[in-house]
Amino acid sequence: MNSASKDLSLANCTPKLGLKQRNTLGIESYAEQAMVISKSEQIPSLLQNIKAHGLPWQVLGGGSNVVLPSALPGVTLLIDIAGKEVISSDETETLIRVGAGEPWHDFVQWTLAQGFPGMENLALIPGTVGASPIQNIGAYGSEVAHFIECVEAFDTQTQKFVTLNKSECQFAYRDSHFKQHPGRFIITQVIFKLPKVWSAKLSYAELAKQFANQTPTPQEIFNAVCAIRSSKLPDPQVLGNAGSFFQNPIVSELQYIELAKQYPAIVSFPDAAGQRKLAAGWLIDQCGFKGKRLGPVGVYDKQALVLVNYGGGSAQDILGLAKQIQDKVYETFGVQLQIEPNIL
Ligand code: EPU
Repeated sequence: MNSASKDLSLANCTPKLGLKQRNTLGIESYAEQAMVISKSEQIPSLLQNIKAHGLPWQVLGGGSNVVLPSALPGVTLLIDIAGKEVISSDETETLIRVGAGEPWHDFVQWTLAQGFPGMENLALIPGTVGASPIQNIGAYGSEVAHFIECVEAFDTQTQKFVTLNKSECQFAYRDSHFKQHPGRFIITQVIFKLPKVWSAKLSYAELAKQFANQTPTPQEIFNAVCAIRSSKLPDPQVLGNAGSFFQNPIVSELQYIELAKQYPAIVSFPDAAGQRKLAAGWLIDQCGFKGKRLGPVGVYDKQALVLVNYGGGSAQDILGLAKQIQDKVYETFGVQLQIEPNIL
């Protein structure tokens, strides 16, 4: 039986599959049993088999936003569902259905090549299309929620395939219904809606500066975003990392005013009414962590929000450093940092 057939038995699993190349932090880890899922229809029977054997299971996508333990117990589902299909395109919008296993950056590049701009500010984000709604990936003044029409998933609670429309996805800053219900949904396809009317998003200060008094094309913005990202964030192929390790914390306007009195240089952004988003990178930087090393792991020297694995670092090493940072930032500013990646 090949992996594309509908019924997958546990006998088709790959035992002890190494995951070091499948997580961007480069943690040495393995899956006790791994199964590549290339078609949505394979999911129900496989989960039934897993359940019948009383095994735990989890999903691994691009591995760019996870902290893996040294061994993942039970069965690890590697989502490899491919496909990019233009469902419709008229004068106002284009709808595209994309398999969860497609690499995010390649998809963004493909949309531009097809003449469907809009997502250029989200270039070069590691990971897969299927993972993009979970933490509502965002960068340079844009987030994926702006472009999602609906998400197709297998609901492991009801054992049914479901389609969640945008409001049901409950997108918020680095958050969604999927993130709020870990393990419940296996995302299989995402449907994107790209409006035909395009305008450049230049709210991010560095983009605004670069294109002052210019009208850049989507491709020029794409190139600029790739350049900014590469200058600030380490390439996971070279230095293990999971992007921002903490969310930018949201505090009350009142707490912000108090902090700003004490720290006039504090970096913050307006948020919902009565709230303020603080730059976690700035807080961590002020605590002196930038470039600091703790055994095999450390804080990236160009961006304090990024933890890196120099090689041989484990989940304990990374989480130990994260705890030191959280404690120091709390002690200094009274602000609790939340870890962004999923800890499996
Ligand atoms: N800053 C410092 N020191 C640092 C890092 C940042 O002072 O070491 C200051 C910067 O000077 C700047 C501010 O903090 O004034 C914000 O920094 P930056 O523009 O680099 O963005 P960020 O808030 O650190 C967020 C996202 C990134 C995204 C960028 C660009 C989160 C948690 N992170 O980072 O997303 O690429 O904005 O939009 O929201 C990710 O989620 O993995 C990620 C990389």
